[in-house]
Amino acid sequence: MIVTTAQLFKHAYGRYAVGAYNINNAEQTMGLFRGCIQSQAPFIIQISKGARKYTDKRMLEAIIRAAEGIFPEAIYAVHLDHGDEDTCYDCINSGFYSSVMIDASHESFEKNVAITKRVVAAAHAKGISVEAELGMLGGVEEDIKVDEGNACLTKPDEAAQFVKQTGCDCLAAAIGTSHGAYKFKGRQSLHFEVIEGIKRLLPGYPLVMHGSSSVPQEEVRRINEAGGKLGGAVGVDENEYLPAAKLGVTKINIDTDGRLVWTRVHREFFRDKPTEFDFRPPGKIFMDEYAKFIAHKNEKLGSANQLTALRASLK
Ligand code: G3H
Ligand code: 13P
Ligand code: ZN
Repeated sequence: MIVTTAQLFKHAYGRYAVGAYNINNAEQTMGLFRGCIQSQAPFIIQISKGARKYTDKRMLEAIIRAAEGIFPEAIYAVHLDHGDEDTCYDCINSGFYSSVMIDASHESFEKNVAITKRVVAAAHAKGISVEAELGMLGGVEEDIKVDEGNACLTKPDEAAQFVKQTGCDCLAAAIGTSHGAYKFKGRQSLHFEVIEGIKRLLPGYPLVMHGSSSVPQEEVRRINEAGGKLGGAVGVDENEYLPAAKLGVTKINIDTDGRLVWTRVHREFFRDKPTEFDFRPPGKIFMDEYAKFIAHKNEKLGSANQLTALRASLK
């Protein structure tokens, strides 16, 4: 069942975070649904602009609709990740997405407010939730690169003004993370003081953490042993997910860790079976491993075993 992110947040707020996982193809989609059903967790499917272009946006929609038929128990939102204004309107008008992210965080505060307000008006007219972003994460985000020096943490008073002025349903705040596999050079911890500062001014308001992959070192070691070269890859401590969730971080975005699972499975498979050229055997291993990975993340986020209670709350 497709629901809005706002519906998911109502149940989760202050208790657990909902995992928001990026998908690009059928194998990831199968692994995602399977892992969420195994762990009995609600989830958010994230589709980036890059994912929409990888095959065709209609292909992803068809894959998700097929997964819905295979896993009728699943409760999830379909969300545009890091959208620009035009892509938001395309998703809002598609009749398929239940949530969009407008990312105008690289614009001035005033321009970010103006763009976000327009998207909120269009989305809310159709019952669709909106995520916006304020502050700047380091790292690479689609075609936008921000070096660590220019990344800036969200200021709580600006966050409060922004939410009041735009009416967005949740806010991606810069709290020390960055996208990709190379997150921290110095301190490796979330800025809890920023989360607490926003919570004081916006009690009950859901925040979103981007760049939340944990970049498991065992995964990196296995990839490198199988021929990879991921030097200095490091991520967020998974044990910080739940403390952040209790303070109102209700959506936690994870993409890179899933890519590491894919890379490890395929590198090890072809290292160990150099004569193999059928893509289905490693694809099957990947779907199993991806499902396990998703179930593990949902345990860490506290979203595991919430499906029955969520379903009851939606009635
Ligand atoms: O924040 C970006 C997500 O990891 C999606 O990555 O734009 O390469 O699909 P992508
Ligand atoms: P990671 O690169 O840490 O997985 O972050 C993903 C993300 O924020 C997608 O919007
Ligand atoms: Zn992101």
